Amino acid sequence: MSDVTVRAPAKINLHLGVGPLRPDGFHALATAYQAVSLFSTVTARPATQWSVACDGQAGIDISGVPLDESNLALRAARLLAEHAGPAGTVQPVSLHIGKGIPVAGGLAGGSADGAAALLACDTLWELGTPRDELLTLAGELGSDVPFALVGGSASGHGRGELVTPLEDNGAWTWVVLTFGEGMSTPAVYGEYDVLHADIQLPDPEIPSRLVEALRTGDVAALAGSVGNDLQPASLRLRPALVEPLRSGLDATAYAALVSGSGPTCLFLCEDDDHAEHVAAALSAYGQVTVARGPAPGAEVL
Ligand code: C5P
Repeated sequence: MSDVTVRAPAKINLHLGVGPLRPDGFHALATAYQAVSLFSTVTARPATQWSVACDGQAGIDISGVPLDESNLALRAARLLAEHAGPAGTVQPVSLHIGKGIPVAGGLAGGSADGAAALLACDTLWELGTPRDELLTLAGELGSDVPFALVGGSASGHGRGELVTPLEDNGAWTWVVLTFGEGMSTPAVYGEYDVLHADIQLPDPEIPSRLVEALRTGDVAALAGSVGNDLQPASLRLRPALVEPLRSGLDATAYAALVSGSGPTCLFLCEDDDHAEHVAAALSAYGQVTVARGPAPGAEVL
């Protein structure tokens, strides 16, 4: 095989319930993920040395993407190689990332690269790694990486890596507002800890009405059940997000929320016409895209 390209989606958190800080430094989560139609690709090619390169699609700023051993796609390839057997079992690869998901935006763009690299290398090396083993490796790479393999809509527990598909009969339209400057996920969780320093946090749960809204595809019901426990922390660190969230609601979006740790903001709309109207009210704040969910998980092109 000369090369393999895999496409993987961005994620949004329809609900992000954050519980107590665990001894391992992660927070207990109960989240409802949805994959949306913003994608990155990873191409794996046999090579004599391990390497990774990255290009941005449609004006995406890739200056924050590390191209050393800390790159998540490269870490994924190396982890799978280690899992496959002793050194030399598989041939090194050169990886090429085509970034279609904004960097450090709360859309799990790095996790999508990791998931895509796992699947691309598994296919290139003809390993046929069982799905549950791939998901375990994905969970070692990052909390959101397993979901990028699974896609659709799903619950996430543990630190987010324990993923179970949710029935989703909706066709959801989101206006996605992204910004040039990203936010650090650990910094937002740190701010969350400061805000909850004296509070005994209960174990988080996904609202049952959200699960029901996905099953019935009812946009008003979904709007009434989305939420993000990290949002107050993100807004403390980036107060400039308050205004676009309000403007989206003023422009009749059904719901407005921060995606994951931010700064990307999400606006739930009825259909394309409605999204166009909402997008027009937001274009002064950042880059506006219309995305649809649920989108499929990582797949070989
Ligand atoms: O798992 P991932 O590498 O995406 O996590 C990035 C950072 O986000 C962690 O180092 C941690 O600071 C924070 N995090 C957390 N609790 C989670 C997931 C992430 O505190 N459940």
